[in-house]
Amino acid sequence: MNINILGAGYVGLVTGACLAGHGHNIIWVDIDQKKVQMINNGKSIIYEPELNSLLKKNKRRIKATNYVDSAVKDSDITFICLGTPSKKDGGIDLSYIKKGSEEIGKNLKQKDWHIVIIKSTVLPGTTKDFVIPILEKKSGKKANVDFGVAVNPEFLREGKAVKDFLEPDRIVIGTNNKKTKNVLEKLYQSFNCPKIFTGLSEAEMIKYASNAFLATKISFINEIGNLCKKLGIDTYEVADGIGRDRRIGRAFLDSGVGWGGSCFPKDVKALIAKAKETGEKTRILEEVVKVNDLQPLKMIELLKKYIPNLKGKKIGVLGLAFKKDTDDIRESRSIPIIKRLIEEKAFVKAYDPKAIKNFKKLFPNIKYCNSNEVMKSDAILILTDWDEFRKLNYKGKIVVDGRHILEAKKGIYEGICW
Ligand code: UGA
Repeated sequence: MNINILGAGYVGLVTGACLAGHGHNIIWVDIDQKKVQMINNGKSIIYEPELNSLLKKNKRRIKATNYVDSAVKDSDITFICLGTPSKKDGGIDLSYIKKGSEEIGKNLKQKDWHIVIIKSTVLPGTTKDFVIPILEKKSGKKANVDFGVAVNPEFLREGKAVKDFLEPDRIVIGTNNKKTKNVLEKLYQSFNCPKIFTGLSEAEMIKYASNAFLATKISFINEIGNLCKKLGIDTYEVADGIGRDRRIGRAFLDSGVGWGGSCFPKDVKALIAKAKETGEKTRILEEVVKVNDLQPLKMIELLKKYIPNLKGKKIGVLGLAFKKDTDDIRESRSIPIIKRLIEEKAFVKAYDPKAIKNFKKLFPNIKYCNSNEVMKSDAILILTDWDEFRKLNYKGKIVVDGRHILEAKKGIYEGICW
């Protein structure tokens, strides 16, 4: 199939590269000339394992442009993969979706039949009440009669996005149009997983509820973990024990310093804000966020057991990215921790294998160095689970571990929930 992807960000790039790998022709549209150029040279602008090799391997099936017009004209399907950032009140900013839908709408005028698929994470009701009216207004055509619409959320984890796309647990397709359903069934026929066909708003809610549930699982195990810590119990053994119950499952029960990233924080807050709009209370989700906001400060509490006054002390930080295998620092738990260390007038020495460049923009005045230099501190905090942190020599060091790097136990060791 000929597929147009609006937005060559993280989701758009991975979606296109993986579908190209399944034999489809991909054209990305992005306003960023640098991104367009890089894709046309077979390179990714973001760091994501396996993405560059996929782009290179499928170079003859992919291209990128700044122009929506020709991209819609030459394709059967348009995926909307535009950002939906947070607004101050926790709701989501739909300005990119609005502009994108307007552009596509205009170009639908000349098309006999085209399918618009929303892959961006949008709140339940957005496609029905916001995107479709724009498409209809700008095209002068009718959804499900003259063009198809579907919601096809992504469940990609940064750092594992290519694998998650190619080997999904399920594919969710929301549409109320038979013709659209048939095309999407065909698009994904080479994927060996359950395909869930549902309504537009149900598909949108599946995405939010999935992320909210996973965030809840982590906050839950962190709450249990904080209690375990007080009782001298190893939470990881508890997680292994409860995770064996198939109704619970072991995934996302790794306790630690909390969840960050560009998705969980934004999505959970957006769902809370949406509920508020309807007058419904989200008591569990509000506590899930609170537990997560407080968790990083546990690291400081534990550190103070060893160094009560942090003023002038050299505190080494291992890990700035919100998790391993990414350079993404959005909502990273290292941010509130380093903020607090600075407030307490500690001298922060930080290392991360990929995220230093991004972190420097937020904290230009702390010392960035390699891991050996970090080890020469008065105490060390482990905040990201990079594999290379397992190989460091912790002997004799004060280490507070927020990510279960057990090799650090060779030092004077304190785990956050174990
Ligand atoms: C998350 C979801 O896992 C994806 O399914 C979803 O598609 C994506 O958001 C999105 O909405 O686009 P991601 O943000 O890349 O993916 O990262 P995760 O691997 O889910 O980790 C999120 C945070 O939770 C990280 O800070 C991680 O360290 C933390 N985490 C994860 C834990 O603290 N404990 C765990 O057991 C698992």
